[in-house]
Amino acid sequence: MLSVRSFWIKVRPVVVVLFVLFVCIQFVRPRLDNPPVTGDFKAPAEVKAVIRRACYDCHSNETHLAWFDQPAPACWLVADHVKKGRKVLNFSSWDSLSRGQQLGKLYESLNQIEYNVMPLSQYSAFHHGGRVSPEEVALLRQYLLSLTPGVMPDTAKQRASVEQYEKWILSVMGTRGPVADEYNGVGYSDLSGFRDWTAISTTERYDNGTLRLILGNAVVERAIREGHTNPWPKGAVFAKVAWDQLPDSAGEIRTGAFRQVEFMIRDGQKYPTTGGWGWARWIGGLGMKPYGKDASFTMECINCHKPMQPNDQTFTLPLADTLALAEVGADTMRPMTGKVITTVARPKESTMSTLYGNDVAIKDARAGKAYSPGAVVTLVTWEQRDDPHWFGGRIPAALRSVEVVKYGRAGPIYKMYSGNENVSEQARISYIAGLKAAVLP
Ligand code: HEC
Ligand code: HEC
Repeated sequence: MLSVRSFWIKVRPVVVVLFVLFVCIQFVRPRLDNPPVTGDFKAPAEVKAVIRRACYDCHSNETHLAWFDQPAPACWLVADHVKKGRKVLNFSSWDSLSRGQQLGKLYESLNQIEYNVMPLSQYSAFHHGGRVSPEEVALLRQYLLSLTPGVMPDTAKQRASVEQYEKWILSVMGTRGPVADEYNGVGYSDLSGFRDWTAISTTERYDNGTLRLILGNAVVERAIREGHTNPWPKGAVFAKVAWDQLPDSAGEIRTGAFRQVEFMIRDGQKYPTTGGWGWARWIGGLGMKPYGKDASFTMECINCHKPMQPNDQTFTLPLADTLALAEVGADTMRPMTGKVITTVARPKESTMSTLYGNDVAIKDARAGKAYSPGAVVTLVTWEQRDDPHWFGGRIPAALRSVEVVKYGRAGPIYKMYSGNENVSEQARISYIAGLKAAVLP
């Protein structure tokens, strides 16, 4: 048996060395000061109180260190968190962001809180007030909805959309000049065929007023069919396209001006430092400019996709129903392999649709022409639900109907494969024929 005394004699040198080390490292302290507040975050008092309490230590110039944050090595970690935290989101210079950027950061914040990504767990474990309660989350949700503009017809957006569309259908495809590489080196040339990829899903993002389509390349399509979606196989590439929302007076939202396209490319060897994915985004409408200032733009992508870590960093739930549809339309065309003409959301009736076409239909639609004989278009309609992965978006739920229009010499033939049979065929044919192609670079 080791007596307490002999035990102490044995460990004493170790304790002394550790103590001396502890004292020494106190002289290696990172600088952590509070620069002036230039334009503080403004919100109703209850909302502000939650953000101030749970987030300001890392995301403002009003950092208050707890006593246990102060000795090294704790302060090294803390200083690193504060430095990184302020860089990506600083409530003390809130005024320097545009209104749209502010709303974007707030929606992102709320989603990160709901997924327990923020505040950082190392922080909430020790800091009183570092947890946000369900009641506070509800309060933040309420506040965000109150800031979000409803869907309203907007004449400026309408005009921009018409202008872009007219230019687009006149331009001969592929005549645009080369698109510059993204700052992390991802080039557009390997990705430019994305407009003919498979539609995996669609989202109505009311947080930022866009309609989005998520497309996958052949590797993604095969992975979904075979059920290998987590992790996604090497070579899987997703494209996400965003258009301005263009609502009509009845509240049906069509695609307006094309805004941006972004990609995630699965390749662990090529992109080891960015989570095994290559990230890229081109903005500025058909101008297609690389997003960001330098390669660090990927931090933004990775941070916001972080809650989806268990899902191989992807948000989108592939539409299981779309696979079943391949059988439904077997004698005409398979929506899953059809190319996309456009997508539509009807939040008032809680439905959304995607219009697919065969090659003849695609060619006509993208040239702004009426469908010619041989064209087949399929309108698939789903119920709409809140996106369980993103407060701020609505996505397709149960399948509601599949309608096919086949154009022949004798005119169009309409067929409904499921859904309400009680419709005027003529009215449905004109509605479907009137859905213009979404502008795609
Ligand atoms: C202990 C420090 C700490 C606290 C407290 C904290 N964060 Fe963070 N936050 C960070 C760090 C560090 C990053 C950057 C992550 C990285 O670079 O890996 C970050 C990133 C973010 C981002 C991503 C921003 C972007 O555009 O990349 C959001 C949004 C965010 N935090 C919101 C919040 C909110 C909201 C709270 C309070 C509820 C909060 N954070 C509390 C440290 C913190
Ligand atoms: C503020 C949060 C946020 C940021 C920042 C962000 N994303 Fe996403 N991303 C989403 C959400 C939410 C979805 C799900 C689709 C939707 O609702 O729009 C998504 C989906 C995607 C998809 C489709 C695959 C999937 O995960 O569902 C791609 C590709 C994509 N994002 C690329 C990027 C790239 C590239 C960047 C950085 C330039 C980026 N994202 C930055 C929130 C974000």
